Amino acid sequence: MSKVGVVGAGYVGLTTAACLAHLGHDVICGDADAEKVEQLKEGKVSIHEDGLSSLVSEGLAARRLQFIVGASDAARDVEYVFLCVNTPQAADGSADLSALREAVRQVAPALSQGTIVVNKSTAPVGTVARMAGWLSEAGVRSAVAVASNPEFLQEGTAVRDFLQPHRIVIGADDPEVAGRVASLYDALQAPVVVTDPASAEMSKYASNAFLAMKISFINAVANICEAVDADVRDVARGMGYDPRIGPQYLDAGPGWGGPCLPKDAMALVRIASDSKYDFDLLRTAIEVNARQRDQIVAKVRDARGGSLVDARVAVWGLAFKAGTDDLRDSAAVDITRRIIAEGATVAAFDPVAGEAALALGLPVVPDPYEACAGAHVLAVLTEWDELRQLDLGRALDLLASPELVDARNLFDPVEMRRIGFSYRGVGC
Ligand code: UDX
Repeated sequence: MSKVGVVGAGYVGLTTAACLAHLGHDVICGDADAEKVEQLKEGKVSIHEDGLSSLVSEGLAARRLQFIVGASDAARDVEYVFLCVNTPQAADGSADLSALREAVRQVAPALSQGTIVVNKSTAPVGTVARMAGWLSEAGVRSAVAVASNPEFLQEGTAVRDFLQPHRIVIGADDPEVAGRVASLYDALQAPVVVTDPASAEMSKYASNAFLAMKISFINAVANICEAVDADVRDVARGMGYDPRIGPQYLDAGPGWGGPCLPKDAMALVRIASDSKYDFDLLRTAIEVNARQRDQIVAKVRDARGGSLVDARVAVWGLAFKAGTDDLRDSAAVDITRRIIAEGATVAAFDPVAGEAALALGLPVVPDPYEACAGAHVLAVLTEWDELRQLDLGRALDLLASPELVDARNLFDPVEMRRIGFSYRGVGC
């Protein structure tokens, strides 16, 4: 078992730290936020992530997981340092690497001979090579190695994705270094792709961009389905059984959002243009995604007879997807704001993200039925299972008109029409 430092206790860093401790490693996780560190020391996890809290408690109880303020002490006397910091999107679409650079600067003096600095933060191709340069600028001897080990964690299932990965990708110039990083994951028995740093970094962007394109593709197909009276849900099933296509990421909806797909798709377009390649395929997928949000706003407007002025709209679901309280680049939040901007009064309910949405100034109510009282349209914007369990008959009785815009195809159109709704789905 190894001694591992993790820099950053966000959802990637904390999941990495807790899961590596679960695998038996001795992990020390450093974060700049002293208050967060205090909470974590007591086992309090503020991120809504299935299974994470219990793994943190397990690690603390077994004394295999420690939390500490700052990056530097997380890099002392360890064999590996994982950098899991934010790489937000800069104004020009490129990734802002200042947090990563700062993390490297802070860990540099604490590194010992043979330590491997592993970047898990999503960062442009060439970043690991630049990290090596930053380390030597900071006076670190060449005996410290660098590697890329991109994360493929989905919010809401991050722990499962870490412990049952489809693959582990490790990029290092020295195969022995890659082998040492791979050994941390031995217990997982997952396929390991060992490659050079640039290919590892590229594999992360290409994966997320591909998923984004797949969703944009099915959303485009959904729009055609509406015109030709086909049902995109059946079309997706008809496609998905083909193993060359696969059934996942074929759910038509309001378009992709969240902290990763939009940022990574934009960043890859940027990486391409910096390399003098116009990634028009991906640019179009991004445009299709933006238009998909327009389509949902138009459906809500149409449900109210063409104008949202003085309309009352009930919104169910604000998180960027089910299973998380994350509102970053949420299509649901964007659509809600646009409905309000067109003159509607909104009452929004989300089973988990309500508090976070209130903090953003969104008009949140604590109860899904309260949201419906007197509303002219009910718009379902996040695919929460909890919403499926609700009494739609009761919601219908509370609405001022029986208009349902189901942007996630969460409900059965036949059943909804049978109970009296005027139903609008996506591509069905
Ligand atoms: C994504 C990648 O899946 C993950 O591998 C990477 O490490 C981080 O980025 P995440 O941001 O958690 O994970 O979101 P994901 O579950 O992929 O969903 C992204 C968006 O696509 C959401 O807005 C979701 O609602 C939407 N989506 C997904 C669809 O509209 N239809 C689908 O069929 C699937």
